[in-house]
Amino acid sequence: MRILVTGGAGFIGSNFLQLAVPAHPQIEFLNIDKLTYAGNPLSLAGLEQYRNYSFARVDVAVAEDVERVFKDFAPTAVVHFAAESHVDRSLHEPDTFVRTNVNGTLHLLEACRRYWRGQESVFHHVSTDEVYGSLGPAGAFTEESRYDPSSPYSASKAASDHLVRAYHRTFGVPVKITNCSNNYGPRQFPEKLVPLMILNALARKPLPVYGEGANVRDWLYVDDHCRAIWIVLREGRVGETYNVGGGSELRNIDVVRAICRGVAQATQSPVEELEALITFVPDRPGHDLRYAIDASKIRRELAWQPLESFETGLRKTIDWYLQNTAWIDSIRTGAYLQWIQRNYDDRGRAQ
Ligand code: NAD
Ligand code: DAU
Repeated sequence: MRILVTGGAGFIGSNFLQLAVPAHPQIEFLNIDKLTYAGNPLSLAGLEQYRNYSFARVDVAVAEDVERVFKDFAPTAVVHFAAESHVDRSLHEPDTFVRTNVNGTLHLLEACRRYWRGQESVFHHVSTDEVYGSLGPAGAFTEESRYDPSSPYSASKAASDHLVRAYHRTFGVPVKITNCSNNYGPRQFPEKLVPLMILNALARKPLPVYGEGANVRDWLYVDDHCRAIWIVLREGRVGETYNVGGGSELRNIDVVRAICRGVAQATQSPVEELEALITFVPDRPGHDLRYAIDASKIRRELAWQPLESFETGLRKTIDWYLQNTAWIDSIRTGAYLQWIQRNYDDRGRAQ
């Protein structure tokens, strides 16, 4: 098997590779990544020693470059992580999201269609529960839930999901899709809620909570998501979609308080000092109220289940950020500081 991983220098892709490459020496992995602000070579540390791993800097939005990769590497599987992934950024630069998430996915599907005739192969599309839009106070997304995306990010991911299904139905490209809830864990860029709050709490900076902090997300530790992708890739049914979620629904304010407790415990500091940093800031436009995943299909058909609770996963995550100061220093570029200023200045206060 020859697996082409796209976006493997990002949060989930790098955790996927860190688990899969050492465990499967008989499988060749090629990681292609544009190395945007979200892709960090330090997240791939250690992988260069494995003979079954290689990396190439490639932009999936450039069709000829994608085609060249297919010619040279001849993958038998694609695990497609590469995307612009941050909802707040998609409000400022939606065109970048369409370019990578829609056009990039299209180019990969085109290459699969052209190079995979008669071969046993699979295109695994890593997608999100945000394509389903927002839930009210009850219920959960199933694989049959209607698509109803709210942000340019989720609309671009919805478009990419539709293209994946269209290439299966029309051209017979063997595809699988996973739609997963919010991930957290090591190597996540600190524009996202969990790492932003951990790093701000450590630096005694304000903890900016959108609106009243009442929005609910279903949190899943990243390794549990990576195991789900691996199981679906190897054993899932072609043409099928699997929802993946942690069964761990929490209001944002409760996530932030849990982070305050965790950081206080890990650094032996008073929790009140950290909770005093919580600052309510103007809400995200189009902010989805609640996500919850019905993961019964993947549990029933493929015997997948999460191994970490939010409590154990959060402890591991905080420990990772405490121990990996070189990684943190590497992302604190001028571009990162500019983003933080732009996002939170627009909200009037906290950084
Ligand atoms: P991320 O932003 O951390 O990483 C994205 C990676 O893609 C980066 O390495 C970046 O350099 C690369 N990339 C961006 N544009 C590219 C391009 N044009 N060509 C090649 N590479 C490019 O994202 P993530 O959180 O790791 O998410 C990975 C995938 O999982 C995305 O498709 C996302 O929609 C999906 N997803 C994420 C979550 C989550 O909670 N983070 C949940 C469900 C699904
Ligand atoms: O549900 C899966 C999705 O989860 C993925 O598809 C996305 O790629 C990923 O970014 C994530 O999207 P969210 O918008 O849910 O994640 P984010 O970390 O940006 O925000 C989580 C919640 O916390 C959300 O309700 C907004 C809120 N929030 C976020 C930030 C950055 C705050 O209250 N304050 C903040 O500073």
